[in-house]
Amino acid sequence: MIQKYVFGTPFETEAVTASLPAASGMPSYGSVNLETGFCYTLTMDEDTIVYGLGEANRGLNKRGYCYISNCTDDPDHTEDKRSLYGAHNFIIVAGKQSFGLFVDYPSKLTFDIGYTRMDTLTIRCDNADLYLYVIDGGSPYEITRQFRKLIGRSYIPPKFAFGFGQSRWGYTTKEDFRKVAAGYREHHIPIDMIYVDIDYMQDYKDFTVNEENFQNFPEFVQEMKNQEIRLIPIIDAGVKAEPGYPVYEEGVANNYFCKRADGSDFVAAVWPGDTHFPDMLNPDARAWFGSHYRFLTDQGIEGFWNDMNEPAIFYTKEGLEEAGELMKRYLAGQNNNGSDETPGSSVTIDQVQRFLHELANRPADYASFYHQVNGQMVRHDKVHNLFGYHMTRAAGEAFEQIDPEKRFLMFSRSSYIGMHRYGGIWTGENKSWWSHILLNLKMLPSLNMCGFLYTGADLGGFGADTTRDLLLRWLALGVFTPLMRNHAALGTRNQECYQFEHIEDFRHVIQVRYRLIPYLYSEYMKAALQDDLYAKPLAFVYPEDSMACQVEDQVMIGNEIMIAPVYTQNARGRYVYLPERMKFIKFMPDGTLSEKLLESGHHYVEIALNEVPLFIRDRKCIPLAAPAEHVAALDTEHMELIGFSDAEYELYEDDGVHKDYENPSNWRTLRS
Ligand code: GLC
Repeated sequence: MIQKYVFGTPFETEAVTASLPAASGMPSYGSVNLETGFCYTLTMDEDTIVYGLGEANRGLNKRGYCYISNCTDDPDHTEDKRSLYGAHNFIIVAGKQSFGLFVDYPSKLTFDIGYTRMDTLTIRCDNADLYLYVIDGGSPYEITRQFRKLIGRSYIPPKFAFGFGQSRWGYTTKEDFRKVAAGYREHHIPIDMIYVDIDYMQDYKDFTVNEENFQNFPEFVQEMKNQEIRLIPIIDAGVKAEPGYPVYEEGVANNYFCKRADGSDFVAAVWPGDTHFPDMLNPDARAWFGSHYRFLTDQGIEGFWNDMNEPAIFYTKEGLEEAGELMKRYLAGQNNNGSDETPGSSVTIDQVQRFLHELANRPADYASFYHQVNGQMVRHDKVHNLFGYHMTRAAGEAFEQIDPEKRFLMFSRSSYIGMHRYGGIWTGENKSWWSHILLNLKMLPSLNMCGFLYTGADLGGFGADTTRDLLLRWLALGVFTPLMRNHAALGTRNQECYQFEHIEDFRHVIQVRYRLIPYLYSEYMKAALQDDLYAKPLAFVYPEDSMACQVEDQVMIGNEIMIAPVYTQNARGRYVYLPERMKFIKFMPDGTLSEKLLESGHHYVEIALNEVPLFIRDRKCIPLAAPAEHVAALDTEHMELIGFSDAEYELYEDDGVHKDYENPSNWRTLRS
C-alpha cells in the first residue's frame, strides 16, 4: 500500500507518474516534526537494515552514516563524502516491519541514518514543502517493486549499448579515434562504442563539431559504423556565452537561460569559459535545448552522454571578486604587522584558503540564479537537484520527436528519481582505486531500487593511473553492469585494453561479456518491463537467510546468477557465501568453462586475474552465445545452456532498435 502525504506546497518534480490521492493525518511509522522545516524521525532496532539512496557512498546497508541529497560535482569519492552527483531520496527500512520512504523534495535533504545516534534515522530539510510517500506491505523487495511502479518504467537503451565501449578524455582528432578502433579491431577485442569527449567540439560549444579536426563529420561517423563502432559524443550543460554562436544567440533572444534576480542571464565558468545555463525546468527552453541534439543525430549519431549537469560551476565572477576582496583584506592585515589577524582585518589565512578551495560549486552562486516555472521565478537552490534530470529529459523528449520508433543511448552524470525514465547514469569521476570496484558493486542494487537500471562506472578508474590487474578485475565486474565502459581522465596512464601486456586476457574478459549478452539483455528487459531489479542484494532473494542479509560484496544479477567479483589487489581468489547450492562457473582464458557444484555455505574460491567467475542458482540455467566482436554479430539462434540440466530459461529478445516491447514473439523458452 502506498500513502502520499502532502506537506506545504511541494514543487512538482514529476518524479512520480502514478496519481494518488493525498492521505490524511501523519505516517504510521516514525514521527514528523514541522517546527523548523521538515524533520522525520524513526527509532531503529539494532538489526534493522536501511537500503536505497541510489548513487550514494558507503554500503548497501546505508546505516551508520549521513548522506546529503545535493547533486555535487566532486571528483574525490572518499568515504567521508556525503553528496555525489545524484539525489535519490528513496529508502527502504527493513526491520520487524518493513516500509519504504520516498521524499519528493528537489533541494538539499539530509538522511542521517544512525550517524548522530546509532539507533535513530532522521530525514531533514529546510522547507516543509514536499511529498512524502510511505510504502508498506510485504518484504523490502516487494516494497521496492511497488515504488518502481509508482515512478514509471525505466529507460531502455538500444541493444548495442550492452556492448563494450572505450572512452578517454583527450581523444582529439580523427586519427586518435581511428587508433582506438584499430587497437580493438586488430586485436579482436570486442567493442561497439567509442565515446567522444569534449574535444570534438569547437571551443567546447555544445552542438558544434571542430571543423579542423573533424572535416566531414557524417562521413567519419559512417567510417566508424562501417567497422561496427558507434561514436557517442558528450553534451555539457553550460552553453558558451559567445556572441555569434547560434545556440547562445537563440537562448538569449528567447529568454531560455537561467536569470539573475535583476533579469540578466546568469554567467558561470565551466569548460568553455563563461557559460549560461539553459533553463531546463522551463518546458519551452527544454524543448529548444533538446531540439539541438538533432544537429548530431542528423549526422548519424545514435547516443549521447550528458555531463556537468549538477550543474557544475568552476567559478563565477561574483565568487572571484569576493575572493579578491578577502585576499586584499588578508594582505592588508599582513602588511600592518605581519600577523595573520589584525584589528580591522579579521581575515585569517585558513579563511582565504577555504574560500579559494570552495570557489567551485558555491552555495551562494546556486542561490543567485532563477528558473521560470509556470510564470514564476524559482530560485535555483530550491530545485537544484532537478537540473541534470531535466537536461536528460530535454534529450529524451527530443528523441521522441526525432524518431519516435527508435531507441537512443543516453546517460547522464547528475540525476534525480524521474530521470530514470529518460536515461541511465554513469557514476562519475571515480578513481583507479581498488575500493572503487567495491563501491561500484554496492551501488548497483541501490541504483536499481531507485529506477536506474542502465548504469555503470568508469571501468579501470577515471582519475589516477590504473594498473593492469585493477583494470582486469574491474572489467570482470563490468561484464555484468549494463553500461560497460572504460573511461579515463586527461593526463592519466593510457588505459585502453590493448595498452597492456597479454592483450589476450582482455580479449577473453570482454568476450565473456558478449557471450553473456543474450542473458544480460534478457534480464535487463525483464527488469525494465516488469518494474523489477536487474541487480539485487542477496537479502531480496533470500530474506529468511540472516547471513545472506549481511552480504555486501556479492550481488544477484537477474534471476539466475550471483556474482562475487575480486576487488583486492594480489588476491588469487576470495571468500564467498552461498545461500543455496550453486554451480560455480569460471570462464577460463582458453575459452572453456570450469564448473563446480558448491553446496550452500562459505567457500574460498580461486579466481585468477584472467578468469571471469559467476554462480548459477540451483536448478537454473542460462544461455551462452559464441563470442562475437560486436553486438549485431551475436548468434542467438545457436546458444548453449549452462548451469543445471532439466532447467528452463525464459529468453526475451527483440530487435534491440525499436520499441516493440509487448510483442509476444519476443519471448521464447529454452530448455537445458
Ligand atoms: C567531467 C566528466 C568526465 C569527462 C570530463 C571532460 O569531468 O566527469 O567524464 O571526461 O568532464 O569532459
